[in-house]
Amino acid sequence: MSATVVVGAQWGDEGKGKLIDVLAASADMVVRFQGGSNAGHTLVVNGKKTVLHLIPSGILHPEKMCLIASGVVVDIFGLAEEIRKLKAAGFSISPAQLLISDNATALLPYHKALDQAREKDLSDGKIGTTGKGIGPAYEDRAARRALVMSDLYDNKNLMAKLEFVLKEKNALLTKLYDVTEIKAKDIYDQIQTVIEEIKPYRTADVSLLVAQKLKLNRRVLFEGAQGTLLDIHHGTYPYVTSSSTLAGAGSISAGVGPHHLSKIVGVFKAYCTRVGSGPFPTELTNDVGARIQKEGHEFGSTTGRARRCGWLDLVALKYAIRLNGINSLAMMKLDVLSDHEQLGICTGYKLNGEIIHEFPTSTELVSQLEPVIEYLPGWKEDLTQVKAIKDLPMKALAYIDFVTRHVGCPIDVVSVGPDRDQTLWIKPVFQD
Ligand code: IMP
Repeated sequence: MSATVVVGAQWGDEGKGKLIDVLAASADMVVRFQGGSNAGHTLVVNGKKTVLHLIPSGILHPEKMCLIASGVVVDIFGLAEEIRKLKAAGFSISPAQLLISDNATALLPYHKALDQAREKDLSDGKIGTTGKGIGPAYEDRAARRALVMSDLYDNKNLMAKLEFVLKEKNALLTKLYDVTEIKAKDIYDQIQTVIEEIKPYRTADVSLLVAQKLKLNRRVLFEGAQGTLLDIHHGTYPYVTSSSTLAGAGSISAGVGPHHLSKIVGVFKAYCTRVGSGPFPTELTNDVGARIQKEGHEFGSTTGRARRCGWLDLVALKYAIRLNGINSLAMMKLDVLSDHEQLGICTGYKLNGEIIHEFPTSTELVSQLEPVIEYLPGWKEDLTQVKAIKDLPMKALAYIDFVTRHVGCPIDVVSVGPDRDQTLWIKPVFQD
């Protein structure tokens, strides 16, 4: 059986966590493949909210195997806290259920210190990162000086590795950013306070575990974090995250051939949001934007920052469909758009006096775009209690239909609230 990848088709915060949680009920394994504690995946089960940052969003199903693959940057302190919180909430989190790749990058306090020092230094020009150390951790990986998870279990060599890596970090922190030096011994001691909690979940070979499941014809779900327009190669660079957020990254991070990833689900909100700096063509800086922000509770689950809000951007969505190979869409938070007289949808951009229909690859050009907005009539009804697609108001169905026809990709799922049962299926995502 092939694997299904779930990716964000906008600027993150699309609702991937909810969808993974729902789909995991019919899958065997969930593999988180990139990002780190910058993500905030919110799951609501019977009204009870759980926010996950690193642990795959299938974890609330006790019998599913949840893997953290090597492309993830693992903040061990955040991870230990997540495990503790889940246990306190009554989930057992057995070592058979959660497995962390020995080869994943360890994100350590000096990564956070550097991320925050750089953002402070950039002041007005800052990226608006989450401050979780993501960029510096991926830099270390690419520069071949990162500590990987297996290094943290190896007490014999750990201190020497920390001393080596901190030599350069401290030069940057103290000389360039005027931040206090970080001592290798302090980091070593901090690691010892949590490592025994994490050790039971270690695994050597995520690739082998995934391959075994696929060979047995079991369903494997790949969980992306952030969104397409935050991708390091194809997003609005440099206002992006430091990993590839695209479906193809799942194959590389988990170590399975790309032909296994045949179902690519793109998750998007019925409107758009962006948190942090960078261009956002359909941003609404007026009362309508403020209303969407309030009704959609558009405040970051990781940083608490207010998210910028705007109309749905179909040019950007088509770009995401192309980059990922999306062949199934999930529209989230349609309920948030109730009770608007009219709803704007961006179908093109004006650039230098011309109308264009492709998302520019130059961020400079993206910042000059003026959206071409078409208006559809809104609906008055509350959608949160709707149980089937056919029961949606005609105007909401027309909104869904407009998007489907414009982007040329089927919408299989529509979400009308945060809970599992507020999920309406047009077509099952798993069809085997
Ligand atoms: P970083 O990933 O913390 O380095 O942040 C880089 C950019 O990605 C910033 O604009 C962040 O706001 C954004 N970002 C990172 N993670 C998320 C996420 O999970 N949702 C939405 N935006 C994110």
